[in-house]
Amino acid sequence: MAASRRPRDQSSESRRAESARVERRRQGRLPGALRLPGIRPAALPAREAAGWYRRSVFYEVLTRGFFDSNNDGAGDLAGLTAKLDYLEWLGVDCLWLLPYYPSPMRDGGYDISDFFTVHPQLGGLDDLVAFLDDAHRRGIRVIADLVMNHTSEEHPWFVESRLSRDNAKSDWYVWNDDDQRWPEARVVFVDVESSNWTWEKKREQYYWHRFYSHQPDLNYENPDVVEAMFGVVRFWLDLGLDGFRLDAVPYLFQADGTTGENLPETHELLRRLRKQIDADFPDRVLLAEANQWPADLVDYFGDGDECHMCFHFPLMPRLFMAVRREQRFPLAEIIAHTPEIPEGCQWAIFLRNHDELTLEKVTEEERDYMVAEYVKDPRMRRHLGIGRRLAPLLDGNRRLAELLYALLFSLPGSPVIYYGDELLMGDNVYLGDRDSVRTPMQWSPDRNGGFSQADFAQLYLPPLMDPVFGYQAVNVEAQQRNPSSFLHWIRSMLQIRRQFPVFGTGTFDLVSCANPSVFAYVRSPVAERVPEPARRRGRPRETVESAGGFSGTSPVLCVHNLSRFAQPAELDLARWAGRMPVELLGRVPFAQVGPAMYGVTLGPYGFYWFELLEEPSEAPGVEQIGGMG
Ligand code: NOJ
Repeated sequence: MAASRRPRDQSSESRRAESARVERRRQGRLPGALRLPGIRPAALPAREAAGWYRRSVFYEVLTRGFFDSNNDGAGDLAGLTAKLDYLEWLGVDCLWLLPYYPSPMRDGGYDISDFFTVHPQLGGLDDLVAFLDDAHRRGIRVIADLVMNHTSEEHPWFVESRLSRDNAKSDWYVWNDDDQRWPEARVVFVDVESSNWTWEKKREQYYWHRFYSHQPDLNYENPDVVEAMFGVVRFWLDLGLDGFRLDAVPYLFQADGTTGENLPETHELLRRLRKQIDADFPDRVLLAEANQWPADLVDYFGDGDECHMCFHFPLMPRLFMAVRREQRFPLAEIIAHTPEIPEGCQWAIFLRNHDELTLEKVTEEERDYMVAEYVKDPRMRRHLGIGRRLAPLLDGNRRLAELLYALLFSLPGSPVIYYGDELLMGDNVYLGDRDSVRTPMQWSPDRNGGFSQADFAQLYLPPLMDPVFGYQAVNVEAQQRNPSSFLHWIRSMLQIRRQFPVFGTGTFDLVSCANPSVFAYVRSPVAERVPEPARRRGRPRETVESAGGFSGTSPVLCVHNLSRFAQPAELDLARWAGRMPVELLGRVPFAQVGPAMYGVTLGPYGFYWFELLEEPSEAPGVEQIGGMG
C-alpha cells in the first residue's frame, strides 16, 4: 500500500501493527476475545438506568487542551484522567471527547488517518482504557466523536484509492470525471473552499469532499466502507465507550438533483447502525451532529430507531438573539416550530462548542443582526459564523451568562457545557480557523495557566494571557477558592438540576405573559416508559421513576427576564391554581397561585425557578407566610 512508502517513526508503526492485530482478531481471523495485549476491558458503569442520556449533563472536552501530564506541550489522556476529580466535583454526568485519533491535525483532529487507535501525542489505547475505567468508577460516562463522513487525505484508504482507478480501495471514496456533478450541494466551508470537488492528478479524476479538500468523503454506496465503519463502531464500544457524537452525519450519501443532505439512504444507514448497537451494546448513545432546520433534524431520531439524541442547532443562535433583542420571540418561535420527538429521544442543547457559533440555520436578516451585534472585528468571523467563546460574546457580563445557563439548564434537552465555559474563559481571535476557542484550560495562575510545564513555545496553542480573560484572572484554582465564583454558581445549578429530573425528561408548556421580555414555561414530570431496546431484553415495563428511585414529582415553573432592565411579569398560571411556588435556589416559598394573574418582579437578566408544590403545607416555612396567598 502506498501508505507504507511514507516515512513513519517506530512507535506509530507499532501502533499500526497493534491496530491491525486487533482488526484481524475482530474479524475472527485470530482466536481470542477482542482484547489488546496488556489491556483489560473497561469496567462499565451500571447501565441499568435506561435513557440515562436524558437525565445527564454533558461536558465537551478537548483532550489536547485540558491537561498535559507529560509536559510535551499538549494535553493527553493521562492528563484528562488526572482531572477527573475536578469533573466529578463539578458534577457533570457524561464527557464528550473531541477526536483523539491519529491525524495530521489540519481540522482539529476531524481529519482522521487511523480509526483504530489514539493520536500518539495523546497517549495510547491503554491510556484510553485507564481513563474510561476511572471515569466509569466515578459514574461518569464517556462518548467520543465518530467521523463517518470523511477521512484525512493521509488515511491509508485514501492514499491507496487516489493511486489509480483499479486498486482495491479505488471506490472507497467518491470519484468523478468532472467537477459538475451535484451542483445543488452547498459548500460548507464557503470562506475556504470554492467547490466540493478536488482534482487528483494520479487518477485524473475529481474526488468529493463536503468540508476541507484534504478531507475526502467516504463512499457509503460501497458495502465494504459500511462494514469497515461498523467495525470502527464495534471496536470502540468494545473498549467501553458509552456512545458517539456522529460528526457531519447528514452528508453520508449523494444523489442527483438533491443537496446531498438528509437523504433516505443516510437514514437507512443510521437505522442499520442503531440496530447493531441495540443488539450488541444496549444503553449506549448516538448523538447526531446535523446542522439542519428542526423539520429535517427530527428525522435523525427516526421513529426512535435512529439516533437517541440530536443537537438542537437552530435553538442555539436564538438564545443569543433573544437576549440581545431582549425579547422571547426568537426562542418561542423556534420551540413552536420544533416537532415532538419520539419516546426515549432527547435534544442536546448548548451555548457554545469547539466550532464557530454557527449561523447556518438563521435567516439572512437574522445573520446580519447577529453579526452586527456580536462581531466587533472582522477577525471574529469564522466560516458562516462567529469564532468566539461565551464570555467574550457577552462582554464578560456575569448576570447575562447566568441567565443563558439558566435557560440552557431548564429548556427541554440535555445541556452540553463546553470546557472552560464553566469559568467564563475567553478566546483568542488572532489564532487561525476555530483555534480561537480551543486554547488551553486555565487551571491556576501558574506558568501556562497550570496546563503544562512545557516551554511556552512548545504549547499546542498559547494560553490566554490578556488582563480580562487570561489565566491569571480566570482559573479553576481561584474560582474553587471563591464560593461566590461563577464556577461555584454553575456547580450549584448542576446540583439543583440533578434533584429535579423533570428538567431532563419533563414536558414543556409555555406560560403566557404580556411582557415580551419575559420567557416563562413549566416543565412537568411524565411517567416515562423504559425505552424499547431494554424492554425487548425482558426488562419489566416499569417507569424510570420507580426504577431509578428519583422523585421530581412537582412541575417546575421557570421565569426568565431577557432584558438588561428590571421587568414585571403577570403570568397566566390558572392551570396551576392552588399550587405553592417554592423558589429552587433558596427554597423560599412565594405566594400561592390563585385564579388571577400571578405577578412577579424580575431584576435585570433575573430568573426564578419555582417548584409548584401541590399542597401549601408541603412548602418549607409555610406557616410564617400563611396569610400571603
Ligand atoms: C464538524 C466538526 O464539529 C468540525 O469541527 C469539523 O471541522 C467538521 N465537522 C468537518 O470535519
